[in-house]
Amino acid sequence: MKRTKIVEALKSQAYQSAINVKGWVRTKRGSKGVAFIQLNDGSTIHDMQIVVDLEKLGEDSIKFVHTGACLSVDGKLIPSQGSGQSVEIQAESIEVLGAADPEKYPMQPKAHSMEFLRENAHFRPRTKTFSTVLRLRHGLAFAIHQFFHQKGFYYLHSPIITASDAEGAGEMFRVTTLDAKNPPLTETGEVDFSADFFGRQTNLTVSGQLEGEIGALAMGEVYTFGPTFRAENSNTARHLAEFWMIEPEMAFYELEDNMDLAQEFIQYLVRFALENYPDDLKFLDERLAKEESQKKAEERSEMGLVEKLRFVVENDFKRITYTEAIDILLSSNHHKKGKFQYEVKWGIDLQSEHERYLVEKHFKQPVILYNYPKNIKAFYMKQNENEEVGRETVRAMDVLFPGIGEIIGGSQREEILEKLEQRIKELNMPEESLWWYLDLRRFGSAPHSGFGLGFERLLMFVTGMSNIRDVIPFPRTPKSAEF
Ligand code: 4AD
Ligand code: MG
Repeated sequence: MKRTKIVEALKSQAYQSAINVKGWVRTKRGSKGVAFIQLNDGSTIHDMQIVVDLEKLGEDSIKFVHTGACLSVDGKLIPSQGSGQSVEIQAESIEVLGAADPEKYPMQPKAHSMEFLRENAHFRPRTKTFSTVLRLRHGLAFAIHQFFHQKGFYYLHSPIITASDAEGAGEMFRVTTLDAKNPPLTETGEVDFSADFFGRQTNLTVSGQLEGEIGALAMGEVYTFGPTFRAENSNTARHLAEFWMIEPEMAFYELEDNMDLAQEFIQYLVRFALENYPDDLKFLDERLAKEESQKKAEERSEMGLVEKLRFVVENDFKRITYTEAIDILLSSNHHKKGKFQYEVKWGIDLQSEHERYLVEKHFKQPVILYNYPKNIKAFYMKQNENEEVGRETVRAMDVLFPGIGEIIGGSQREEILEKLEQRIKELNMPEESLWWYLDLRRFGSAPHSGFGLGFERLLMFVTGMSNIRDVIPFPRTPKSAEF
């Protein structure tokens, strides 16, 4: 018989009709002559209840039915007697496609710690929490393409192996053509890791932005969406060595248009999740509420997950300049009581404690900070005119979210050749390797802007997960590197 997905079967009202479902056992329990199996196939957060009449099918029919086993069940769809589900399946035959020895299967029918689940990443998607996160991850990836397609943006595939270093921060993974069996050696006999990719120094991309600019200055509005690599800081709950980034890049957009798009984009994605994944979000909402209830009262979030998502969809993000943000921080009680670990003064790169203060304590909502000091931002950002000496700024913007911190970084780009050349010189950057980037300013330059949204940071916000490793199926950490 053809398999019906559980998500479809649960919606069906074709009572008494024959049906086949396949999936993995969550739990099994029994009472006088009847066994109840909760079966899940990943198509929904909900399980299908399988009712087994042991007198009819025999005790042996469930002998190998344990948590984790994979079953194919033929039966009849019937209205459910119990609460919690509308239909269930009266089993007629149960085939065990793959048994799971309960003594050895690592996933038990109980709540496991996140750390334990990370160590068992190969079974993690079988848990409710992770299958939910993965459904949302899929849904939002789809919504990203839908959003841009509807707006007439083109999906540009930027390279993963590249010679460019968009952020200039030197946090790159080098790519070499090293032959492991016969590696080139240095004069002192050590492996020479400076061997290059066909004679060039290349790295895994830290951002598709510079290539995105090539697209924007020909096609108008483009976006990239792919894996991105940074060799730093991967030991925090908000950083990954391999993460996914969405980078729209638009000709004829000024910074203000860029901010408008960033807000519209995030609101669209959050609304998409609310409209299309209500059951998954309800589950995550309850999960988070449980987690919050274990925190100290003053650390507890005032809003539930769904409430937070609705708030973001319904309210404009607050927009303030970097300079205004510094003034707010300086006049705050936090500053007066000396509670900030890092000193606040104009020119500093804001630390996460400062960002958190602004979004979580002061504004209690998403904030877009813009016009940052030139010295703490990347070379390509457009310089503001009429600046106070010593307080030069660039047309940068960061979108900060409660509980997450920076979710988007972006800017208007410097489109004037001479200014860009001068900045590259000031920073001692290798101008030769940027010849093509400068060519874009030499021939048919135009004002343009763009930003990068960290996909996993967005997912943390939407799912309420507190560690970034729990919103990506295979986080790149030493412990999970075997996949
Ligand atoms: O602020 P970033 O470094 O900006 C850029 O890469 C620009 N080239 C984007 C652009 O203008 N096209 O990174 C953008 C976003 C951050 O706001 C953050 O959400 C995410 O990417 N991000 C990370 N996410 C997870 N792990 C990391 N190590 C991340 N580094 C950045
Ligand atoms: Mg940034």
